[in-house]
Amino acid sequence: MSDTKKKEKYYVSTPIYYPSANLHIGHTYCTVMADAMARFKRLQGYDVMFLTGTDEHGQKIQKIAEENHTTPQAYVDNVVGGIKELWKTMEISYDDFIRTTEPRHHKTVQTVFNKLYEKGDIYKSEYEGLYCTPCESFWTETQAVDGKCPDCGRPVEKAKEEAYFFRLSKYQDRLLDLLENTDFLQPESRRNEMVSFVKQGLEDLCISRSSFDWGIKVPVNEKHVIYVWLDALSNYLTGLGYPDTEGELFQRYWPANVHLVGKEIVRFHAVIWPALLMSLELPLPDHVLGHGWILLEGGKMSKSRGNIVDPVKLIERYGVDALKYFLLREYTFGQDGLFTNEVMLSRMNFDLANDLGNLLSRTVSMIEKYNGGVVPGPGADEGPDAELKELAVTTADRVSAYMDKFSFSQALEEIWILIRRTNKYIDETAPWLLAKDETNKERLSTVLHNLAESLRISSILIYPFMHTTATRMRKQLGLWYADVVWEDAYTFDMMNGDQVKKGDALFPRLDIEKELAELEAMKQEQMAEAAEAAEAGGDGSCGAGASADPAVSKEAGEAEGDAPEIPYKDPIDYEDFAKIDFRVGRVLECKKHPKADKLLIFKIKIGKEVRQIISGVAECFTPEECVGRKVVVVANLKPRKLRGEESNGMLMFADNGDRFEFVTTIARDGEIVS
Ligand code: MSP
Repeated sequence: MSDTKKKEKYYVSTPIYYPSANLHIGHTYCTVMADAMARFKRLQGYDVMFLTGTDEHGQKIQKIAEENHTTPQAYVDNVVGGIKELWKTMEISYDDFIRTTEPRHHKTVQTVFNKLYEKGDIYKSEYEGLYCTPCESFWTETQAVDGKCPDCGRPVEKAKEEAYFFRLSKYQDRLLDLLENTDFLQPESRRNEMVSFVKQGLEDLCISRSSFDWGIKVPVNEKHVIYVWLDALSNYLTGLGYPDTEGELFQRYWPANVHLVGKEIVRFHAVIWPALLMSLELPLPDHVLGHGWILLEGGKMSKSRGNIVDPVKLIERYGVDALKYFLLREYTFGQDGLFTNEVMLSRMNFDLANDLGNLLSRTVSMIEKYNGGVVPGPGADEGPDAELKELAVTTADRVSAYMDKFSFSQALEEIWILIRRTNKYIDETAPWLLAKDETNKERLSTVLHNLAESLRISSILIYPFMHTTATRMRKQLGLWYADVVWEDAYTFDMMNGDQVKKGDALFPRLDIEKELAELEAMKQEQMAEAAEAAEAGGDGSCGAGASADPAVSKEAGEAEGDAPEIPYKDPIDYEDFAKIDFRVGRVLECKKHPKADKLLIFKIKIGKEVRQIISGVAECFTPEECVGRKVVVVANLKPRKLRGEESNGMLMFADNGDRFEFVTTIARDGEIVS
């Protein structure tokens, strides 16, 4: 029996995204999870509120707008339009979209500030410390690592200004209790991190800035704008009409059931947010769930390096449902995962085209061929029938249990166990053999019925993850008229006389080699475009932040002529060049040089040998970004010591004037590059 609860409420949120540039596949991951959860809960009969939006204030946005010679409002309006378009393409079923520049949000944030102020939890003082603009985070000298942001590894700036502070330290004990003694924060690894963070002692939080003005004004002092994280976190209240706590929405949905967030912003959601709510005397959300990151082989996706994976391009090629399935099935909630085209394409081919697509097309074809397109009624169990039925009607509970733990991947695996079992059932019962002998007619009918039933149940289970595919399945099964009802996944033998109709393949079979080549060509094109845009827009120093978005800024293109020219060095003879021994290596390890901010220490594998090479690129790349990359090495440079560490060789980078690029190669590891 289903344990479905009727009309219980469920409030789920995603982070609100910075509209500093178009979103990449990593951003879509969280929203796709939230969407699947919202659809799942709606199907189970919950009254769902699914909130998302954009975080439009702060120094970072102001800076990017300035770089693009436009106003922050014009800049964000443009990017937010693209984000909304993306969610439409991805069929994201959010109930509300908060833009932090909306008047309703200003009202919420200023009320929050006033309430904390009236309570005496806000005081004025002076901030002196460090600030990471890309993360919009304050850090102390001791928290920063070698003068860099401990979260993103980018340089922090010194900040000294009059500011308002929130008494975060006052809530330390309650926060520790919340984190240690409840399941507020998950998974376990994030909880442990936050417990030790709080145990180190919480300092009061600076919650206003006065050195720039793109933000919501502090109500008691208009020279200040409210710190962007206080502004952003409050969106979860704006969505429910706060400050109207007696209003219908607030009464119906607060507190949130779950805030889904990426691992690097857990601190804001699991420490600062509950402290603010404690001060506001509002009930706390049930859970904060910190998911992992989707990484590329070279580390993080970065727009300035052009290695971002664009969800729109993948959707154009493979469709929304294939992409959603891949994201939900491939990655384990809470852990980082690697994105590769190979893995994505094989999931699409094996799970979707083969397992699911073939099952539907074989079943519908056989019902058309052997029974005039009509689904027969149920018959007596024989052979594997009982096992198939038992599996089919119990899968919903297992899916539900995994969904309650946010284990999307395992929930889908349970559905695929049923799909694979049903494919096996076809091989075991061999309907084409039964069809050869009229005396098997009854058995053939039962087999066809069971196949259709198993697919009907699968279509319900798949619905929250890929609703279009589920609907297409149901159309072919002759169930186009029937609503998708979760409880129907618990009952076998519902179909009798339904008229099937063969349609297009659910997922076309992909030629993986061809797709890989085309995706690689697209990537090269994108990287070239990014390099051009960086030259045109000039994104400051290497890896220093998001570059100008060519889609947003005309001026970026117009500035092309200003790109710095790099003078060529004097010509050399071929004989001199031929003395250099270039090899292909791979970065096994990379860390910061303990005694020099600009240096990175690499361990490079060249063939069977591993050697240490020091390179002065710490301002361009974080160690994390370098691990796993292929590099071209000058292997016969005499070894020398750099700040006490031996460097045996040199890594090749191309300097295009304002940043470095890895010299990449298609040669195999260890090969000589000629
Ligand atoms: N604006 C803040 C959030 C405020 S919520 C009150 C912010 N925005 S963000 O655009 O930088 O990031 C939004 C979310 O995208 C974060 O949860 C972050 O973890 C997620 N991701 C960004 N890149 C990602 C991957 N490569 N992989 C998975 N998620 C990643 O932070």
